[in-house]
Amino acid sequence: MTGPAPVSLLDFEARAKSLLTPEVWDFIAGGSGFEITMRANRQALDSVSVYPRMLGGALSGTETNLLGTPMSMPIAVAPMAYQRLVHPAGEVAMAEAACQAGIPLMLSALSSCPVEEVARTGAKIWFQLYWMREWLALEQLIERVEAAGSTALVVTLDVPIMGRRLRDVRNQFALPAEVVAANLTNGRAGTAHRARAGESAIAAHTLELIGSGPTWSDLEQLRSRTSLPLVVKGILDPRDAARAVGIGADAVVVSNHGGRQLDGAPASVTALAAVVAEVGQQCQVLLDSGIRSGMDVLRALALGASGVLVGRPLLWALAVGGAAGAAQALSLLSTEFRESLILAGCPDLAAVRDLRTDQGVAR
Ligand code: FNR
Repeated sequence: MTGPAPVSLLDFEARAKSLLTPEVWDFIAGGSGFEITMRANRQALDSVSVYPRMLGGALSGTETNLLGTPMSMPIAVAPMAYQRLVHPAGEVAMAEAACQAGIPLMLSALSSCPVEEVARTGAKIWFQLYWMREWLALEQLIERVEAAGSTALVVTLDVPIMGRRLRDVRNQFALPAEVVAANLTNGRAGTAHRARAGESAIAAHTLELIGSGPTWSDLEQLRSRTSLPLVVKGILDPRDAARAVGIGADAVVVSNHGGRQLDGAPASVTALAAVVAEVGQQCQVLLDSGIRSGMDVLRALALGASGVLVGRPLLWALAVGGAAGAAQALSLLSTEFRESLILAGCPDLAAVRDLRTDQGVAR
């Protein structure tokens, strides 16, 4: 990496933008509609104040365990499609960085690298599923990712269709021929490689692959099919969280998909406390959408989350420096998180739950 060392995740953003084509940049950076929900994610996080405690003692560590996976800090890589768009080594490089940082990686159903190659890095993989059009195809995919060593399954619920991402529609965004959904198409290119006017080819392709999304009874069927921990991602309403837990979900991810689905949905962090109040005693509650610093991780935990997922910043870092870039971003995040814990007077992660925020105390 050239130039001065990044001092915050945002430093990777400007560099990535200058390196990527405008179409790929827009695909990553964009949200749906007028990007109101995407902006709300940041505004809401910025407005959460945390009251620091004094004289809490030295920080003992940030290690935790989510879904049976020991991890160095309560952070996982969010599932993000087609990472070879930003770096030739794609998800393999991202997994190397996650492994080095001691955190798990949610691998997208639309990964551009085969799950077996990603697993070879030694990273802990939580595989993210979209609902396939046919149960048989889904069964085969689950068998494949279980055999590859995935230690959890994540089902993303908030994509019955792909949100209308105006930047991609304007750009008629289509994948380059060398980037494919490596675990779904056996390397065959789909319609993601052909764009029509007024259409995002990537949205059309996603629909072709995943149909219209699961039903609650599909989720029940999946729960009975696998003994792996099951995570549902894309929850904003506590009633859906309760229903998922009733089916046997081990964790829910409070997420609006980084503002890429329903434009007009609340910021994830705004929805967090009610979900924690509803299901926090029964399952782990994770949060994503807008996390950009260690302080944001502290905010989420103070509001009751057990951990967070980080999305776009890790794609920026991957674009800038491959595995080393993503590892650098994770190391920066770890430093920031530790510093935030110390400044907030927390000797360990349990103490974060006792912090007062302007929304009260989580427990
Ligand atoms: C995503 N996201 C996503 N989610 C998912 O469940 N499956 C997927 O394949 C993808 N693909 C994807 C691609 C890109 C380019 C982005 C930016 C995002 C959503 C992702 O997992 C996560 O919810 C958000 O990215 C979190 O918001 P931030 O951290 O990017 O603000």
